[in-house]
Amino acid sequence: MPSFTDPFALHDPQLLRRQPFVNGQWLAGDAPPLTVNNPATGTQLGEAQTLSATSAVAAIDAAQAALPEWKAMTAQERAKRLERWHNLILEHADDLARIMTLEQGKPLAEARGEVVYGASFAKWFAEEGRRVYGEIIPPPQRGRRLLVFREPIGVCAAITPWNFPSAMIVRKTAPALAAGCTIVLKPAESTPFSALALAELAQRAGIPGGVFNVVLGNPSDIGKAFAAHPAVRKLSFTGSTRTGRILLAQAAEQIQKVTLELGGNAPFIVFEDADFDAAVEGAITAKFRNAGQVCVAVNRILVHENLFARFTERFAARAAALKVGNGLDPETDIGPLINATALARIEGLIADAKASGAKIHAGGQPHKLGGLFFEPTVITQIKSQARIWREELFGPVVTLLPFRDEAEALRLANDTEYGLASYFYSRDLGRMFRVAEGLQFGMVGVNAPAVSGDCAPFGGIKASGFGREGSRHGIEDYLEYKTVWVGV
Ligand code: SIN
Repeated sequence: MPSFTDPFALHDPQLLRRQPFVNGQWLAGDAPPLTVNNPATGTQLGEAQTLSATSAVAAIDAAQAALPEWKAMTAQERAKRLERWHNLILEHADDLARIMTLEQGKPLAEARGEVVYGASFAKWFAEEGRRVYGEIIPPPQRGRRLLVFREPIGVCAAITPWNFPSAMIVRKTAPALAAGCTIVLKPAESTPFSALALAELAQRAGIPGGVFNVVLGNPSDIGKAFAAHPAVRKLSFTGSTRTGRILLAQAAEQIQKVTLELGGNAPFIVFEDADFDAAVEGAITAKFRNAGQVCVAVNRILVHENLFARFTERFAARAAALKVGNGLDPETDIGPLINATALARIEGLIADAKASGAKIHAGGQPHKLGGLFFEPTVITQIKSQARIWREELFGPVVTLLPFRDEAEALRLANDTEYGLASYFYSRDLGRMFRVAEGLQFGMVGVNAPAVSGDCAPFGGIKASGFGREGSRHGIEDYLEYKTVWVGV
């Protein structure tokens, strides 16, 4: 029964777990607890127990011990459990969304959307796990047969971010489990409750102890424990390029296979032949979801010079009309930033842009609500060396720049070390192919403001990382090839 003192007020209070989950047990912590705050109110939501590096090693050992039995199951047996997990996540979507909004800040409808989106990976990979086919190759010699087996890579480690506290976990865990691997997950420190609720549901779904483990604790110590353990054969990380570089270097120690889904600096190009209204709305969606705290969020809008003034005016008016507030309020479009460091960073980027002559068309400062709320901000006249052009923004801020022709649009769009998502609006069929081919990014939205789905490969190139999640390719990273030569 919801109570006034319980900020979570869940229909199923058992979903609110506060302890690491290892080998099917909720463990007492042996390291300083995490304090989890509500970014919308600044109040404490509670504490979560954490583990020392030594206990994190024990979690990897548990995943290693659980591997033979899980791997020995048929794909159908594993799929059945993943499908149950999918169904339970959907059944509890309202509670999971509420936990997410409280600890992460995004509007409740967005949180619910993320829960449903995340669950889709459990179903998708339950199905994909049944289609992990080997090969029979025509042998090059008589008296030989040549076969290729596909086998689970082994124990996997995953490190997930706070901006998508549910979907990124299912997107990594489901393919690992479907392939026959076991996994140890370290979720972000700001959003442990979403992760632990997923572990609770995994247990209810019949996923055996040790197959899916959640450790909480010092990120650097746990990252090092993952890298140093010889049983860990694969690491999947979503987060900053800076941390990705460190993890990649550490993974060299045990020659671990790595998937990195890192930062982005997405361009959004509006060509002269675009559907103007659709482009404005597309840019609003692609920019302001989750207060811009999205790896695939638009950072730089490039608009044909003949449309630039009109587009800027309309886009700035739309941005300024977005409602900033607590994500629990159904009217809210933009929630708070995750913490004070994020807010200070955004302020620094805007100050740097202003110092080099940028013009603010909307927002530009912390919102009058105070706390971690920031105004949706639209900026023009930026210099290409400005930090705001070069860096991933991760906030409700966007820059607009005019371009003359297709070649210039492509040059500006590709002028970044990142290569995750990109977007453009045009109604010219030839241009759709030329520009999609010319953009140096892992994903391109053409007249479409979203580039994710269970059935589509998600991932980047260049400093945005490598490897793909989702789609039939998403299970590949959790599998090995074994070549078998048979003399007959
Ligand atoms: C991300 O920001 O990394 C995830 C976005 C998505 O899956 O849509």
